[in-house]
Amino acid sequence: MKRPISLQKRLSLGLTLGMTLLWLGATAGTWLVVQHELDETFDSALEATAQRILPLAALEIGNRRGPRRARHVATLKMDSEYLTYLVRDADGRILMRSHDAKLKIFSHRPTPGFTTTDKYRLYSASIENDSIVIEIAEPLAHRREASREALLALLLPLLGLIPISLLGTWLFVRLSLRSVLAYRRAVEARGVGDLSPIQVARLPAEIDPLAEAVNHLLERLRKALEAERSFTANSAHELRTPLAATLAQIQRLRQEAPEGPLQVRAAKIENALRELARLSEKLMQLAKAEGGGLLSQSPEDLIPLLAHGVEEWNRGAAARIRLQLPEATRVCTAIDPDAFGILLRNLIENALKYGDPAQPVDVSLSTDGCLRVINGGPAVPADVLQRLTERFVRGNSETSGSGLGLAIAQSIVHGVGGQLHLASPASGRDDGFEVRVQFPQQTPTQP
Ligand SMILES: Nc1ncnc2c1ncn2[C@@H]1O[C@H](COP(=O)(O)OP(=O)(O)OP(=O)(O)O)[C@@H](O)[C@H]1O
Ligand SMILES: [Mg+2]
Repeated sequence: MKRPISLQKRLSLGLTLGMTLLWLGATAGTWLVVQHELDETFDSALEATAQRILPLAALEIGNRRGPRRARHVATLKMDSEYLTYLVRDADGRILMRSHDAKLKIFSHRPTPGFTTTDKYRLYSASIENDSIVIEIAEPLAHRREASREALLALLLPLLGLIPISLLGTWLFVRLSLRSVLAYRRAVEARGVGDLSPIQVARLPAEIDPLAEAVNHLLERLRKALEAERSFTANSAHELRTPLAATLAQIQRLRQEAPEGPLQVRAAKIENALRELARLSEKLMQLAKAEGGGLLSQSPEDLIPLLAHGVEEWNRGAAARIRLQLPEATRVCTAIDPDAFGILLRNLIENALKYGDPAQPVDVSLSTDGCLRVINGGPAVPADVLQRLTERFVRGNSETSGSGLGLAIAQSIVHGVGGQLHLASPASGRDDGFEVRVQFPQQTPTQP
């Protein structure tokens, strides 16, 4: 599957690219305007200089005595001149030239006004009926340098703006999406069976309706599940009294019936009723295991709960259960004591029922909150083992049962945030069956 692109990356790249393109467009426009204005300014300076020199040159030429010969005009600074000019008469003879004027850049018969060559911008003007003509030249390099510098000044900020925009957008989007990340974490942190609405403050307006829709969905799901559970629990509960009454009646009938087939039949009905009562009891346990209320308000110490549960079983099971408790004084986890009782009952009941009656059942709890129930007997094949925690799934056992015990255990363990693991053969042995429950550990609250 294609990995989704992050909004943060998309916005950072998109906004930076957009800003860069706009900046480049604006730079191109500004540069054209600046170039035009520069040309106008340089041209008007060139024209003004020619118009100033021309009357002075005419005056100087008019005051000359003798034949008209070209005269070099020295500059104040003797290094290369910026503007150079030539003054000619109507026949094109040079009457005056600036100190640095190179003849080849000027035309013999200049056209009035501005002309441009490869390297120069020229301006020509005349007075006294075209008898004195001036042509003044300005190297283009100067204008080109000015326009290059203007372009550079416009482009240079972009070098800083691109990383600033990338980083700024990235940070801004990250800050803006903080509440969305908090929402994601709140959803991920949900335990199994927690279908209460997810509350996250200040979600963006685009996400808020989505969160509301999810909450509505959760609410509908919670109601549907609750209805299903309460139906199971109620039906099992409602069955309890009539079942008990019928069982009592059938027991009396069996006692009162004469020896023979009637008594055998009554015994069969009694057994079937007992199975029915067990099934209704398991259904009630399943409804509790899959409902809320598995977690206790404060962490519970598992040691006394376990000791008490095992002691009850040992009273009736010929002391087959060996209990091993940790050295630690307390092993605490947030589990409802009733739920822990149901879990323990199902695991021990299985171990006694399916384990080798000649071998003991080992129940142990470690300091890190790992409960183990191990019994002897033939190992269960791996493919069967995998499916045993599903509802109504049973192994190849001849003994009666409904296939709900391990499903109930699994629901309770997941409901309190723990892990249930089945192993057969049991660890460190080549036979037997082991159920391992790892509880999340909590520090006990001080009384
Ligand atoms: N300690 C065990 N040793 C060997 N097999 C086991 C053990 N515990 C469970 N099993 C196998 O897993 C199957 C499912 O057990 P589970 O407790 O879910 O149902 P059940 O015991 O058959 O019926 P229920 O517990 O609802 O009366 C059992 O039928 C049995 O084959
Ligand atoms: Mg069972």
